[in-house]
Amino acid sequence: MAISPFRSDILKGKVAFITGGGSGINFGVAKALAAHGADIAMMGRREEVLQQACQELAKLGVRTFYKSGDVRNAEACKAALDETVNALGKLDILVNGAAGNFLCPPEELSPNGFKTVVDIDLNGTFNMCRYGFQYLKASKGLIINISATLHYVGTPFQAHVSAAKAGVDALTINLAAEWGPEGIRVNGIAPGPIGDTEGMKRLAPGDSGEKMKKEIPLGRFGETAEIGLTAVFLASSAASYITGETIVVDGGAWLSKPPMVPRALVEQMMAKSKG
Ligand code: COA
Repeated sequence: MAISPFRSDILKGKVAFITGGGSGINFGVAKALAAHGADIAMMGRREEVLQQACQELAKLGVRTFYKSGDVRNAEACKAALDETVNALGKLDILVNGAAGNFLCPPEELSPNGFKTVVDIDLNGTFNMCRYGFQYLKASKGLIINISATLHYVGTPFQAHVSAAKAGVDALTINLAAEWGPEGIRVNGIAPGPIGDTEGMKRLAPGDSGEKMKKEIPLGRFGETAEIGLTAVFLASSAASYITGETIVVDGGAWLSKPPMVPRALVEQMMAKSKG
């Protein structure tokens, strides 16, 4: 478990709103923000998951609020934000984490399957930013968009998510440029493979996870707490001059590939050239 290097009160007095905050990486972000003092609001589709998550966060001594809803529904986004501000007084930190994913070759994917993921990941992020703007302008707040690294290369069976997350990264840059003058910072986090999450169950079925680990330069999956601490950093004054940046937190996974020839063969070739 990653240990925080930050003081536990650095986000005291702040209110954070996290979409998809009840589980997985996003709950890791919610826990980390709460552990550093922020009150937490969250939105997701499953009320019982939100309720349980908020009960756990309340044990950290912060105020919580939840509203069930789907980020694809712009009115639901607006209502959840308005009710959060009514309940907790303001909005300082908006984390867009709600996402949908499954593996599917593009030639098999229905147009509605493609649209569904773009609607959740990209349009959902826009909806929240759009209706969060007035509150973030008032608080000089910030946005953290949870992205991915899939679209940095061509990732098989992930055309739908890659397209959606490329759009999310474009929004991060664009809103950073347009809303910087309003005092709003907009950044992103691109997690790599994070263990024990719904995403990993979907993307690394069976024993494919073990094979994947061997190809990650840091040799392991990440922890939700490591994404959480990156969010704490971005939300803190340590990042007060950072905007429009998406921080990759993936143990070096996306930038490395397996050797083209086995090491044993390279060693044989070296021995031959010496001898
Ligand atoms: N392979 C191919 N197509 C799929 C699919 C799969 N595994 N799962 C869903 N689809 C298609 C459906 O067939 C449907 O298209 P159609 O109408 O042409 O048949 C379309 O996607 C919508 O599916 P539906 O199940 O109605 O959507 P939903 O709104 O109930 O669920 C999903 C959204 C599909 C993204 C679902 O996987 C989900 O709820 N995910 C949230 C959790 C998650 O993905 N977490 C990991 C984040 S990294």
